[in-house]
Amino acid sequence: MPQVAPVERVRRRFEGAAGKQLAARLPTGYQRLGDAVVLRLPAVLEEWSHALGKIYLEEFGATMVFTIDGIGKGFRRTPKVRLIGGEGGEVTVRDGGCAWTFDPSRIMFSAGNMEERHRMANIVEAGETLVDLFAGIGYFSLPMALTGKPSRIYSVDKNPVAYSYLVKNVWQNRVGKTVTAILGDNRVSALPEARADRILLGYLPSSLPYVRRALPLLRPEGGWLHVHTVVSVRGRKKTETALQEVLRRSGRSLERLGKHRVKSYGPSREHVVLDVRVGPGDP
Ligand SMILES: C[S@@+](CC[C@H](N)C(=O)[O-])C[C@H]1O[C@@H](n2cnc3c(N)ncnc32)[C@H](O)[C@@H]1O
Repeated sequence: MPQVAPVERVRRRFEGAAGKQLAARLPTGYQRLGDAVVLRLPAVLEEWSHALGKIYLEEFGATMVFTIDGIGKGFRRTPKVRLIGGEGGEVTVRDGGCAWTFDPSRIMFSAGNMEERHRMANIVEAGETLVDLFAGIGYFSLPMALTGKPSRIYSVDKNPVAYSYLVKNVWQNRVGKTVTAILGDNRVSALPEARADRILLGYLPSSLPYVRRALPLLRPEGGWLHVHTVVSVRGRKKTETALQEVLRRSGRSLERLGKHRVKSYGPSREHVVLDVRVGPGDP
């Protein structure tokens, strides 16, 4: 007998309690974050949320269930979630040899970025010095430290909650010799100048305004920037032109520019990463 998927088991149980019409409104998608399940419930199911929370807990074998209504607009990008089942607390998301611990009600975790995390982990060359300007809880810094064998990663975040999880995650992944966690705003934090081989700018909707901050951190002979941004499917050229202009004004040359699509970001918009090879500065 083929196994019935948890979503379908939830639907069947809920249909028994609330009827076919309401059961048809249940979401088919969800995010699994360690022991937590995160889903979007439509308003029509609001009064059923606690009954549903219990069903999801049981059918998914989860310890907490959240409904989510997007990501906050502030710099922290805190998820707008509400607990509907279980008691909340911390979860641990594992991927390969990497483990990220955090509280899903205070910290976002984009499962859609997982492939990009693998790409970054494999792009690092042994011995490189890296700067992660929007480190969060170590989304990129941890897999890069574990897989890529860089000599050092300076990981900066200005949200004290994210920073405290970053410190915890560096410790639990045993990468304390490689990762230096820094609490502060990357625009004013003291960071080593002219030492980085590669800099991550993983901030949405756009890290472009931070490129100017990143450039003096790169080695004089050049290095890589990985610039996350959201583009409208037809507006990519504009972003590239803006980037070229920042480099020109800073007296740095553009040696290579690649684009990598991470995920869809709403209708006709996508999250992309610009892989920018910056050349030496003007003599
Ligand atoms: C939510 S994360 C990005 C998500 C991540 N790229 C992923 O893979 O899921 C963005 C982080 O940037 C931090 N941040 C925003 N502005 C900052 C700044 N100026 N300096 C340092 N950290 C900043 C926020 O505190 C937050 O932790």
